[in-house]
Formats: sequence, structure tokens, C-alpha cells
Amino acid sequence: MKKVTVVGAGNVGATCADVLAQKNFLDEVVLIDIKEGFAEGKALDIWEASAINHFDTRVNGYTNDYSKTAGSEVVVITSGIPRRPGMSRDDLISTNAKIMMDVVGKVTKYSPDAIIIVVANPLDVMTYAAHKASGKAANKVFGMAGILDTARYRSFLATEIGVSPNDIQALLMGGHGDTMVPLPRYTTVAGIPVTKLVEADKLNAIIDRTKKGGGEIVKLLGTSAWYAPGAAAAQMVESIVNNQKHIFPVCVRLDGQWGQKGVYLGSPVRLGREGIEEIIEIDLNEEEMKDMETSSAAVKSVMDVFDSMNLI
Ligand code: NAI
Ligand code: 2OP
Repeated sequence: MKKVTVVGAGNVGATCADVLAQKNFLDEVVLIDIKEGFAEGKALDIWEASAINHFDTRVNGYTNDYSKTAGSEVVVITSGIPRRPGMSRDDLISTNAKIMMDVVGKVTKYSPDAIIIVVANPLDVMTYAAHKASGKAANKVFGMAGILDTARYRSFLATEIGVSPNDIQALLMGGHGDTMVPLPRYTTVAGIPVTKLVEADKLNAIIDRTKKGGGEIVKLLGTSAWYAPGAAAAQMVESIVNNQKHIFPVCVRLDGQWGQKGVYLGSPVRLGREGIEEIIEIDLNEEEMKDMETSSAAVKSVMDVFDSMNLI
């Protein structure tokens, strides 16, 4: 029985459940929300599309009934408030940290072996919080952000160059915020270094747009993105459940890699049935290392805010 739970049936959670259902590799997706009837409604709507979208994955929604999540292989946690215009991701911590503590406790009670993928913001610190609350090994609790940020970067490059985004292989590291670390040295277009195809000023503008990609959507919509984030989380679930061992940028606890210890930063990992199966310590040059340190300091300062809340 391949079963996955998505907590939070809002924009990102419902999209993730829908993408998972359409990928059709699971027996059941359970959606949970605190709002009465909301997860039930979203799940029913997704399931009613099964005959049109050709999937068999059952999608069931429940209001706060975690007993229905029992035996989940993976739990995706999207519950929390999203950014509104003028807010940074870090502004969300006081509300979302409390939600995270509550949800992780309930999830681990019914699915003690589940791998947890954190989506709620501020992402790197919510991953830290979820890991602390779960009591699990660090390779079982990690966060989704790098796939999204890298996908945004790939989509902007694809538009600029006029090629398929699938031809673009790229990597962004660091925190999910303005200090994220794009790596043009590790960006290729069908194997061709991106710097051969895109002029430096244009590449810099794309990198800058990528860093502000979340905010661009918030300005347009008045709330944060969901199609790409939901799809990104679903891609992580698929790599785990189907043991695909994709190399993805994922928010993980570092243990000395790039000189960082105990801090949660986006890093290339191999993602399979065991969760994070390897953190791939690629070489970074002096400037990239400096950017990682800046990103690490930014994440650590918000981790300190979480610690000062004394929730654990
Ligand atoms: P949303 O407001 O549409 O959905 C959040 C849902 O969580 C709501 O339905 C709400 O009722 C539910 N919820 C709140 N407290 C709960 C609890 N204790 N138990 C169960 N459900 C609860 O928000 P949206 O757009 O889906 O965003 C969710 C989170 O994901 C936000 O924190 C947002 O900032 C974050 N996000 C992170 C991204 C990333 O790259 N990591 C990308 C996009 C969003
Ligand atoms: C995003 O990057 C807000 O984290 C969210 O879209």
C-alpha cells in the first residue's frame, strides 16, 4: 500500500495532492486540514477528475483526523500561513512554527517511519523545527525549496535562450530567500556551459530575478505561488517512493559540508527510499563559499529566533 499524506489542503497542498494523483503511482493520497470540510472538499474535487485525468490513486480528505494518515510513507507539510505583499518569508515564523510543532507531533504518532518533507515557510527554519520536533534522523526530515528555485531559474533561462527547460541542468544552493546561491558554473544547456549561450549581464539579471522569484509572484497574486511549489514537492515524493535516486537541491541539515555544521541549507542530494541518501559535496570556489556563508548566517539568525520561542 503506497500512501502519502499532505498536511494543509490550501493552494500548495491541494496542488501537490493533485499532481501526485495525476502521476498515478500511489494507492492513496490523504489530505488533512484544520478548516472544517476543506480537505474533504479539495480531495473530492481532485478524485472527481480521476476519470478525466486517467488515474486510480484515491484521494481522501479529513478535518484534523490524523488516524486516517496512519502508515504513510511520506508526509508533506504545507500547513501554515503564506506571504502577503510586504512580508518576507521570515515574518511567518511565529505562526508557522507553532503549527509545525503541532502537526509533526500528530504525524509521527500515526506514521512513525514516515519521511517528512517540509514546505511551510520560512522553509529552512521550519525544516529545522520539524526535525527537532520529530526526533527522527536528519536524512528523514528535509525541505522543499531548491527544486522550485532551480525550476524558476531554468524556466527564465529557457525563455531567454529559446530552448526547452528540460535541456537546462542547473543547481541553486543555500537558503530559500534572497541569499540563495545560484551556481552558473554548474549550469549547462544540453551539456553546453550556460556562459557560452547567455551574455554575462543577461545571466546576472536572470539570477537576480530567480532570487526574487517568490516575491514576483506575491506581487502579482497577493499571495505566494502554488503550481510550481506543489509540483516540486510531488517530484520529491516520487523520487522517494519509487526510489528513483534523483539528484535534487534539497534543504538539509549540513554536518560539516562546505564548512557548515548544524545549519539547514539547500544542497545537492541523492533522494531515494531512505530519504537523503547522500549529500553531494561539490566544489565551490572562493566567491561561492562566501555566498554560502552569507546564506548560512541569514538562516542561522532565524534558527535563533525559533530557539528563542522555546517551543521544544
Ligand atoms: P494556504 O493558506 O493556501 O494553505 C495553508 C493551509 O494550511 C490552509 O488551508 C490552512 O487551513 C491550513 N492549516 C493551517 N493550520 C493548520 C494546522 N494546524 N493543521 C492543518 N492545516 C492547517 O497557503 P499556501 O499558499 O498553500 O502556502 C502554505 C505554506 O507553504 C506557506 O507557509 C507558504 O509560505 C509556503 N510555501 C513554501 C514554498 C517553498 O518553496 N518552500 C513555496 C510556496 C509556499
Ligand atoms: C515561494 O518561493 C513564497 O516560498 C514561496 O514562492
